Amino acid sequence: MSVSQSYTPTVYAAKDYSHIKGLVGITDEQIAVHLKLYQGYVNRTNALLAKLAGLANSGQHADSSYQELKRRAGWEWNGMRLHEYYFDNLAPGGGALEGSRFAERVAAQFGSVDAWKADLLGTAKAPGVGWVITYLDAHSGQIWNHWVTEHEIGHPAGATPILVLDVWEHAFTVYLKPTDRPKYLDDFCANINWDVVSQRLA
Ligand SMILES: [Fe+2]
Repeated sequence: MSVSQSYTPTVYAAKDYSHIKGLVGITDEQIAVHLKLYQGYVNRTNALLAKLAGLANSGQHADSSYQELKRRAGWEWNGMRLHEYYFDNLAPGGGALEGSRFAERVAAQFGSVDAWKADLLGTAKAPGVGWVITYLDAHSGQIWNHWVTEHEIGHPAGATPILVLDVWEHAFTVYLKPTDRPKYLDDFCANINWDVVSQRLA
């Protein structure tokens, strides 16, 4: 049975992160290179969604090329959105962790903020590339640190990203060596925008 379709995909615009300069440790050049990579994800997401819509609107839903593009969509779209979470939770000067809503919640869950941080950094030192995300499960109230492989593999369904940490080597190899991931992780922690992180708990 032929089903007519006229689907119009959203066209995404890259967000402006020109304010992210002068971070502790993470150089402006590193951020500039990383933002260029982010722009690529936005461009490819838009191109891929347009191509999918074109195929679907011409009735090619079951074509293998359509299906393979569907598989790729999670890579591109998450590559775009996860970078937005990451850049959104970075800021020169950061913000106050002590006394924040986030600090209260993780201390209640982990016993202390330091225990949450040790768990975050331990997870982030796992071999491989991907993301470490502090998630909130709204169903149970649980907060935990979670590993996501590449961009799209292993996201917990329905959970809310609270803090997003890029642990792909492209995030730090402009100013460090690949073996310097621990230094990058310390630099990341020194630049977290705690106000944004706490707002995501709302
Ligand atoms: Fe990245």
